[in-house]
Amino acid sequence: MKMGKICNWIFYVIVCFITLSLTSCASDDNGNDASGVLAPVAQEATDISLTSFKANWDNVFRASEYVLDVSTTNDFSSFVDGFNNLSINQLSQSVTGLMSNTTYYYRVRAVVSGVISGNSNIVSAETNTEFPDDITLKSATENNFFVGVAVSEARTNISSYDEIYMREFSSITAENDMKMASIFTGIDNTGAIIYDWSKVDALVDYAETNNLNVHGHTLIWHRSLPQALENFSGTDQEFEDLIEQYITDVLTRYQGKINSWDVVNEAIDDDPNVQWRDTVFLQRMGEDYVEKCFAFARAADPDIKLFYNDYNMTFDATKRGKVLDLVDQLLLENIIDGVGYQMHIDYNFPSTQQIQDATDELVAKDVLIHFAELDVKVNAANDLTELTEERAMAQSQRVKEVVEIFNAIPQSKKYAITVWGLKDDDTWLIPENNGRPEWPLLFDDSFDKKSSYQGFLEGL
Ligand code: XIL
Repeated sequence: MKMGKICNWIFYVIVCFITLSLTSCASDDNGNDASGVLAPVAQEATDISLTSFKANWDNVFRASEYVLDVSTTNDFSSFVDGFNNLSINQLSQSVTGLMSNTTYYYRVRAVVSGVISGNSNIVSAETNTEFPDDITLKSATENNFFVGVAVSEARTNISSYDEIYMREFSSITAENDMKMASIFTGIDNTGAIIYDWSKVDALVDYAETNNLNVHGHTLIWHRSLPQALENFSGTDQEFEDLIEQYITDVLTRYQGKINSWDVVNEAIDDDPNVQWRDTVFLQRMGEDYVEKCFAFARAADPDIKLFYNDYNMTFDATKRGKVLDLVDQLLLENIIDGVGYQMHIDYNFPSTQQIQDATDELVAKDVLIHFAELDVKVNAANDLTELTEERAMAQSQRVKEVVEIFNAIPQSKKYAITVWGLKDDDTWLIPENNGRPEWPLLFDDSFDKKSSYQGFLEGL
């Protein structure tokens, strides 16, 4: 009996002890909650930009990771995409893809031995309204790689254009003015090529005066065929001689002024079972016409960087395989220096992983890499009549990813990223060509920077 009473008493003491400790845990004002794990203290956001900020918090003893929530409301009734319960094993996290001039809230939890703490204090961060003006695409990439823009002679020497070309870009590419149909205007009665150098001369002078690199685009392209070659009645050998003459004349005229050229553009067929696109060049010069054109270019000037350029390279692995085989062959003869992946992409296609994989395959080759002709479509589904803020942010995120992938390429292989036009209403993807409106570039119709511009900066 006596023994039983003592047991009851001990039991009572233990229960009280447990109850008391639990109560004290729950009301601990040091941030402990029922889990017994101390909650982190969230600190002010840093690195605030137009579309991002960095969330920061203090270390919690023995925490193996932290869990972050970001919301546009301080009751966390909804979350910023990708920032709900996000595991992180450091004391800060960049929160990107945000809207400008918007207040966000974040809180964080610590995980110790698999147990999650309660929430930290809530910190608010407001994204910026204005683009930074102390940093430009050019300054952010200096000595690293060229940032190029497609231009036309008609859109130079106009102050609104000139100002941005010079401030933001280190390289230009003629969108059309250096294509064959614009330079090769006919054949005279002695059989010699008639040239119109006026636009090329003007652009090369413009670049020289303004300290811009020129990437030449493009010597041979089936979609820019001079009439005189389309209807050429001479022999195949005479045709080939004209091509050699053309390549030699263009390269030597601009020797030291245009240091890189797309020699052949889009020669590989889209049909997986067909190697070469059926063009007049293939018909007249044979299956080794690409090789011949590169050899003519190398012979004209061994110092000019020679590129092969093509589209759909990031997601069509079969086509890419054919192009990379061609590159291997041209490398064996030392007549190629670089490859351009045309970046006519969508905000949601191809996947980042596809672009990464395609880039990795190119990095494995001994060539310079050009992300050429970048524009990011947002309206492939034709669901927009104007560019919404939400879609603009998605576009910005896409540009950022592309730039990040490029920027991670080994330094010696980075050549350039070239955007295919300056502002949205200059794009080749106008409704007449494209069937629907598009806003694919980095500047809007009024020459103002878009979120996609900011995305480019953030990718660096
Ligand atoms: C386009 C130009 O942007 C248009 O203005 C022109 O009408 C047709 O050519 N691949 C290329 C570029 O290599 O030269 C093309 O440029 C777009 C597709």
